[in-house]
Amino acid sequence: PAQDEARVDEIKRLLEQHNAVLVAHYYTDDAIQQLAEETGGCVADSLEMARFGARHDADTLVVAGVRFMGETAKILSPEKRVLMPTLEATCSLDIGCPADEFSAFCDQHPDRTVVVYANTSAAVKARADWVVTSSIAVDVIEHLQARGEKILWAPDKHLGGYIQQKTGADMLMWDGACIVHEEFKAKGIEDLKALYPEAAVLVHPESPASVVALADVAGSTSQLIKAAQELPHDKLIVATDRGIFFKMQQMVPEKTLFEAPTAGNGATCRSCAHCPWMAMNALDNMAGALREGSGEIFVDAELRRAALKPLERMLNFQK
Ligand code: 13P
Ligand code: SF4
Repeated sequence: PAQDEARVDEIKRLLEQHNAVLVAHYYTDDAIQQLAEETGGCVADSLEMARFGARHDADTLVVAGVRFMGETAKILSPEKRVLMPTLEATCSLDIGCPADEFSAFCDQHPDRTVVVYANTSAAVKARADWVVTSSIAVDVIEHLQARGEKILWAPDKHLGGYIQQKTGADMLMWDGACIVHEEFKAKGIEDLKALYPEAAVLVHPESPASVVALADVAGSTSQLIKAAQELPHDKLIVATDRGIFFKMQQMVPEKTLFEAPTAGNGATCRSCAHCPWMAMNALDNMAGALREGSGEIFVDAELRRAALKPLERMLNFQK
């Protein structure tokens, strides 16, 4: 629509004016992902977003995603201004892991190496030895296990269970989940597979174990997009937020992509597998943030220093 075009033009102008760059997650609206690509920004998974923001020489990073992604950007680049279209965009994993309760849990298990998922607050990261994203979680835990370390893992029990099953590591788990991925049902995917037996199944490991068990490939958003390109299959059943279809379809225009059902009856649900917090990012509030400097992320200096250590370990980790 013409209104969107006007907003896109305004954002492009504002990005230039503020020497700003747009860093967007694959789950944000198509228009936002397209804008990031057109303006020299990036569309990526959470690890690549962190790397891109830290390396870029812009004065301002506009982070379209959820709160922890903006906080991570600020922790890694305190000298940059970090803006988000809205500060309301949180994550059920972050909400489900309050820093005070988590810290008490850590205190009870001083013998364990604390590894937290990136989808957490700066205060939770500050208590951790390592931060990981889904793209390198298995590799990092494998490395720690080889050193004989016992793990305290938080907050995603499904991702944690997947890593444990892959590595056999001794992991004590926090009881958190992603409300979007938890909705995928094995029964629905099996029914779809019965209709299209030749299809491959791609799953984000925040999904329940019964769903991951059906996966030909499990991985981060970027890893799933890569798998879509590399697998020989013409049909792909995809269990993750439907925001990913914009980029995935672009990369494999000749393939047929199916949304994994979120209901057990095999019916696909057009709006279920979409993160309500990612959906809060829009062209309007992005233009507003750039125009007014609203939605700026601040992280307390002491907290920042503490959270930086486990984040740097993640960025410096080589398999
Ligand atoms: P990725 O790191 O795979 O992009 O995942 C982030 C996320 O929030 C998935 O729900
Ligand atoms: Fe959090 Fe799930 Fe949304 Fe990702 S999709 S930001 S894990 S609630």
